[in-house]
Amino acid sequence: MHLHLRDGDMCRLTTPLSAEYFSGAVIMPNLVPPVTEFDSMDAYRTRILEAAGAHAESFTPLMTLFFKNQTRATLEAARARESFFALKLYPAGATTNSDGGVTDFGEAEATFRAMEDLGIPLLVHGESHGFVMDREAEFLPTYRRLAQTFPRLKICMEHITTAAALSLLDEFENVFATVTLQHLLITLDDVAGGMLRPHLFCKPIAKRPEDRSALLAAALSGHPKLMFGSDSAPHPRHKKECCGCAAGVFTAPVALPALADLFAKNNALDKLQDFVGGNARRIYGLKTAPKKVVLEDKPCPVPAVYEGYGEHVVPMFAGENLAWSVVA
Ligand code: NCD
Ligand code: ZN
Repeated sequence: MHLHLRDGDMCRLTTPLSAEYFSGAVIMPNLVPPVTEFDSMDAYRTRILEAAGAHAESFTPLMTLFFKNQTRATLEAARARESFFALKLYPAGATTNSDGGVTDFGEAEATFRAMEDLGIPLLVHGESHGFVMDREAEFLPTYRRLAQTFPRLKICMEHITTAAALSLLDEFENVFATVTLQHLLITLDDVAGGMLRPHLFCKPIAKRPEDRSALLAAALSGHPKLMFGSDSAPHPRHKKECCGCAAGVFTAPVALPALADLFAKNNALDKLQDFVGGNARRIYGLKTAPKKVVLEDKPCPVPAVYEGYGEHVVPMFAGENLAWSVVA
């Protein structure tokens, strides 16, 4: 429910790797320049389906527009397009390619109101500009204000990383969340506690053990408002292994086996399907065609790097063996 497919050669390389095991994904609009117009959205969707190749038939890109205080008329037109799914709001400068994001939430109110009336979901990258460990916590009052002011607006906290954010799901009927694979598995210690691991660096940054435990417990217990949002965010290797590492972890090709392993180890395999798809289908009323994926507890080697079209991308678990495989 939260996927970055990039553009150009990166899109050609990472889209098939991302589309293979999923029947659909919510496609993030943070390209350069961001996807703000229908025409660029539709053109991007076409490029994604071309890049998906043989997987295009069984993969639905759910397209988003970058939040830009869109007018009611624009949103009405958006809703009429079958490919359009939601608006994605980035606070200005909060993460990769978000410079054109929101600086004044007051000015955005008319758009929120129109989205609420039209039933358009609001997907939010919820980080403030404070101290890096506190950015999500500092954004929670904004979520609260939005949830209270627009009670019919479906608000999705995109990839939450803290126990505090999780508690908003129980506080507000209209608040939902996605969580990534890495935030169920790692803490800040894994990113920067020893040798710095650039391929685990993403925003929001991984937090404390108690945050990871709370998120994992919610996922394993089948929390009905928590959806898998991979946030698979590939960057070229030279932009990760350098001075000034880009934020984002490439997880799409390893996500399902890694989740199967995690859920199996915790005797929660029966909760996996709703976590990766069922909850989202119910919450958003999605009608994407079902796709059968068979997972088996059989080791699967992860490539050290994926390469093609002149690009190199390093996935999570690069060079390691996963305990589970996708076998069909
Ligand atoms: C994402 C990216 O690379 O586009 N990076 C990340 O660390 N998660 C942007 C985002 O979703 O925040
Ligand atoms: Zn993301």
